[in-house]
Amino acid sequence: MPTCPSSTTFDPLDLSDPFPLLAQARRQQPVFYSPDIDYWVITRYDDIKAIFRDHETYTAANTITPIVPFSDAVKQMLADGDYSPEPVLSNNVPPSHTRIRALVNRLFTPRRMKSFAPAIRDIAQRGVQRIADSAPIDIVAELTYEYPAYVLFHVLGVPAADVPQVKAWAGNRIKLYYGRPSAAEQIAMTKNLVPFWRYVVDLVHDKVRQPQDDLTSDLIRLRAGNDSVLTLNEIASCMITLLVAGHETTTAQINNALLHLLTEREHWEALCAAPATIPQALEEMMRYDPSVCTWRRQTAAASTIAGVTIPAGADLLLMLSSANRDPAVFPEPDLIVTSRDNLKDHLAFGYGIHYCVGAPLARLEMAVLLETLTGALPDMRLVRDQALEYSRNISFRGPASLWVTW
Ligand code: HEM
Repeated sequence: MPTCPSSTTFDPLDLSDPFPLLAQARRQQPVFYSPDIDYWVITRYDDIKAIFRDHETYTAANTITPIVPFSDAVKQMLADGDYSPEPVLSNNVPPSHTRIRALVNRLFTPRRMKSFAPAIRDIAQRGVQRIADSAPIDIVAELTYEYPAYVLFHVLGVPAADVPQVKAWAGNRIKLYYGRPSAAEQIAMTKNLVPFWRYVVDLVHDKVRQPQDDLTSDLIRLRAGNDSVLTLNEIASCMITLLVAGHETTTAQINNALLHLLTEREHWEALCAAPATIPQALEEMMRYDPSVCTWRRQTAAASTIAGVTIPAGADLLLMLSSANRDPAVFPEPDLIVTSRDNLKDHLAFGYGIHYCVGAPLARLEMAVLLETLTGALPDMRLVRDQALEYSRNISFRGPASLWVTW
């Protein structure tokens, strides 16, 4: 089994500064094995994109598999709680994925997203007004932790009053599946998973009784009461996926963007002077520091990647943050260059049949927030000498707090 100089020091859960080690791996051993989590680590852009493209050899079946397998006690608790989400989007495979994804795509059309823009602008403005008089603040605690959840809940038709509870459940689910909980922590977290699922099932049944102007109701309308189109359990499974995938990711991406734009403040100033360039700057932020810094695939057959033979049934950790800094695709990758001609080639939203279905919403809400912040608080800057903390998990990277002042 190949060993990389970096594989000995590679800690897949330490996301505090993965970039130097990944640059070394790209140069010296672009594919290496991590015994720590029993995954093959893939670091180069072309290899990762080829894996995303070939969804038959590399399936997405393992994307929601817990890093620490569930104990028997946990499995029993889930069975007792009728916890029954099924693979629908992220960890599903064709033809079932094709059927469900085609329906969910119809929710996130540019037209539908545009219809939500005034409400999103309103949520952003209220959030920014609330913090405007209170510098210095931890902008994560006061604004960016909740903002994407308020946006997502609005579009999915979930009551805004439930944001704190659902955020807590979703964060719990991420730690359970993507972190390394102890046996006792796993049981405590599972106690929170069952009510989350019950909440989502009840929400779907409420919307069946009383459809409204939201995406959950849109999906129920597309189903038209026909289980061969989509079952109610599949709708609930989509909803729990969206209620996790749709805000933690965006919170962390906004935090990464604010951190870097304010660290190299000329970029922030450029956005204040020319807000029309915010969408490009955001693409470069997603390339430079993607919040979903790794994603997963599993080999359906033995395959060779960058000269390394990988057996069938192996788990692959695709280092998106490394692909996005591959100099073969992005010259001078460690520099922030908002005028790159291939800005949108980054892999921060994945690629291929599982490409992030929420990307149009994420792009819209991030741009709206940056427009609102640069417009209202152009003097914003980072509080000096703050220590940044990143939670220990394999996939979601963003500072836990970010102190700013103006
Ligand atoms: C900046 C924020 C976001 C980032 C960085 C991000 C990133 C990603 C990535 C890397 C994937 C995996 C793609 C693949 O396997 O090829 C993904 C899939 C997905 N994302 Fe996002 N995402 C974001 C926001 C959202 C939002 C707002 C939603 C929902 C409203 C969402 C829902 C999903 C879903 C459902 C999938 C699975 C799609 C499928 O397998 O067909 N994401 N996202």
